[in-house]
Parts: sequence; C-alpha cells; structure tokens
Amino acid sequence: MNKRPVKKIGVANIVNILLAICVLILVINFNVDGTKDMSENSSILEVIHQRKSVRNYTDKKVSEEQLETLVRAGMAAPTAVNKQPWSFVVVNDREILDKLGNELPYAKMLKGAPAAVIVCGDLSKALEGWEQEFWIQDCSAATENILIAAEAIGLGAVWTAAYPAKDRMKTVIDILNLPKHIIPLNVIPVGYPKGVEKPKDKWKPENLKWNSWQ
Ligand SMILES: Cc1cc2nc3c(=O)[nH]c(=O)nc-3n(C[C@H](O)[C@H](O)[C@H](O)COP(=O)(O)O)c2cc1C
Repeated sequence: MNKRPVKKIGVANIVNILLAICVLILVINFNVDGTKDMSENSSILEVIHQRKSVRNYTDKKVSEEQLETLVRAGMAAPTAVNKQPWSFVVVNDREILDKLGNELPYAKMLKGAPAAVIVCGDLSKALEGWEQEFWIQDCSAATENILIAAEAIGLGAVWTAAYPAKDRMKTVIDILNLPKHIIPLNVIPVGYPKGVEKPKDKWKPENLKWNSWQ
C-alpha cells in the first residue's frame, strides 16, 4: 500500500501560527483604530453612574494603600496649565477625625468614618492674578476622581464642603494646622459602606441643548 507523504510543520509555519495568535489577542483587546475595547469603557461608565454620596460606614479599616490609591486618582485629574495646585491631607487618626466631625456641622459622619481625605488648594503652586482661582476647578476635578476611585474599589465617600464657607475652612485649617497658602476645598470621609445605597438618576433631557440655546 502506498503511504501518503506526511507533511512536516516547519519552523516558519510555527512562527506564523504564533504570530496569528498574537494578532488575534491584540484584536480582541483593541479596536482596529487602537482604541480600547468598549467593554472596558463601559465598566468605567458603570462606576461613574454607580457613584453616590455614602455617609454611613462599617468599622472596617481602610488601608494606607487604598487611601494612596484614592489620592493617586486625585492627582491624575486635569489642571489649568498643568499647575497641579494642590495638596492632599489624609487623616486616619481617630482623634482628629472625631474633632473634625464634632466641629463641622455638615460632616458629622466623620465620627463614624475610618479615614478622610482633605483636598486642599496650594496657592504657592497656583497661577497668578485672575487665573489663581483655577485652583478651585483643579481641586474639584481631583475630588471627583477620588469619589469615583472610591466607588471603583468598593469604598464609600462623600464630598463635604469647606471652601468657600469661611467658618468651616477655619475649623479645618486650625485642626489640621494648615499653613497660610493651603486652602481646604473639602473634607471627604471614606469608609466601607454600611448598607446599600443607590445612586440617584440625574438624567434630565431638558438640561441638554444641542448647538445653541433652543
Ligand atoms: C460642592 C459640594 C458640597 C457638598 N457639601 C456637602 C456637605 O457639606 N455635607 C454633605 O453631607 N454632603 C455634601 N455634598 C454632597 C451632596 O449633598 C451630594 O453630592 C448631592 O446630594 C447629590 O448626591 P450624590 O452625591 O449621591 O449623587 C456636597 C457636594 C458638593 C458637590
């Protein structure tokens, strides 16, 4: 009986197969134009839409690593002329958290929070003249990043105002011993959420205009 000739798979063929697998993996992860696959984008959108103010926390500690993750997200925010005119004070000392909670009328939840991030404008790094006030937008962008990052890693947080309420700013400045050029924008209590809170649906089509005010 005649035996059919066995085809040998050469090294070149193996290399081609491996290359094809690599291309396939890349195509699965990235769209042809180099943008990331939609599923990743949609999970970011899910976190944005799931974010809500959380004011009740369990006793579970939040690690320094988690707190640094939040501040890193804050520092990733855009700033005018890339000035990054900010400083972040992280508090995980029970006594200081309680002091802040006792003296800030709208941040009582600090007394039940294991930690807080205080987002501050640093006027020594800010722009000059009328542009100085960009620090407020810059620090607000950082704050939103922190709130979204907290949601993303399973923590709950809430923006409680300091600036522009003079009395609340003074309280934070005094308790944290902040120097003159450091202005507290807000205090963000952080902890593991106690209970399940739902995000509010704020979509109002009437708040969207296309092209002009009509
Ligand atoms: C500038 C600003 C100041 C806020 N100040 C406080 C505050 O002092 N205390 C508080 O409990 N929540 C405060 N909040 C949280 C708002 O009450 C909350 O974002 C709003 O009710 C919408 O709810 P949501 O965050 O769950 O979407 C503040 C939010 C912002 C943006």
